Amino acid sequence: MSTNFRRAGAALFAATLTAATLVACSSEQAPQGGGDGGGESAAASDTIVLGFSQVGAESGWRAANTKSIQDTLTTENGFDLKFSDAQQKQENQIQAIRSYIQQQVDVIAFSPVVETGWDAVLEEAKAAEIPVILTDRAVDSEDDTLYESFIGSDFVEEGKRAGDWAVEQYDGEGYKAVELQGTTGAAPMIDRQQGFADAIAGSDIEMIDSQTGNFTRTEGKQVMEGFLQKYDDIDLVFAHNDDMGLGAIEAIEAAGKVPGKDIKIITVDGVKDGMQALADGKINYIVECNPLLGPDLAEIAKKVVAGEEVEKRIVTQDEAFDQEAAKAALPDRQY
Ligand code: AHR
Repeated sequence: MSTNFRRAGAALFAATLTAATLVACSSEQAPQGGGDGGGESAAASDTIVLGFSQVGAESGWRAANTKSIQDTLTTENGFDLKFSDAQQKQENQIQAIRSYIQQQVDVIAFSPVVETGWDAVLEEAKAAEIPVILTDRAVDSEDDTLYESFIGSDFVEEGKRAGDWAVEQYDGEGYKAVELQGTTGAAPMIDRQQGFADAIAGSDIEMIDSQTGNFTRTEGKQVMEGFLQKYDDIDLVFAHNDDMGLGAIEAIEAAGKVPGKDIKIITVDGVKDGMQALADGKINYIVECNPLLGPDLAEIAKKVVAGEEVEKRIVTQDEAFDQEAAKAALPDRQY
């Protein structure tokens, strides 16, 4: 295939533009993955070289998402995957994307750690004629020609489903709720907060405090410990992911209370650890966020490289689980 030849001139231009930045950032970790990683494309004639910049390794969800991508975008499936972990830092993702442009990859895909601040680097990819696919999280840009497709869940809907269930179960009891938010400025943090707030508006569930736990178990636990010291009347926790909910369980138990009973917990994701806690009665409800995006990414990347039309927005289908549903789903859970 030779998208690489077609793009060589533009990519050379982009490489020149980015060289100074890359030299400046030379102490940071270069993207890692298959292929030779050199200035020339590593593509064999029929292989799609895809540079993927992952958010990090902050959660069980992220581990499952990375595995899905690495297991699907294989040599046997026609890909040369270059993979980099941004450790939850936007500057690392921008550096990785610039490096992929310099390497003249066929496609760039990434899951943006935060929503804003992407236009400049996406314009560089566009100038180099390298298509970009967003997975999992959206960018907040007025120019939707900067990417080909966005594959991922509807995070507002996830927050709304969580809030709807809370209202259905607990409205009328004057519950006081706290929120463990995801990474500040990330699409799932912004959207899940919004969806939940919209759903509980008009009920007597009151959100008394919200703070970021950065989607990690450790920070979720720390933030919950702070909430428990500050308030002695918390009835409900809405955690933007399972990991923070699992951290909250540890904090609640350490405070001598019973998670799932004294303090109800609703989370998002549906990874095995979360589902087990739900089956055990320590979490009360989980809205799923499907991390298995590798197959859709492979399909869309192949179409984009072949010059075929692709859908601008592909919404991943998610379920939701109460205790009985979690017990039934656990034996076959893939992640
Ligand atoms: O963007 C998806 C979110 O990122 C997941 O819900 C969370 O676990 C992850 O860190």
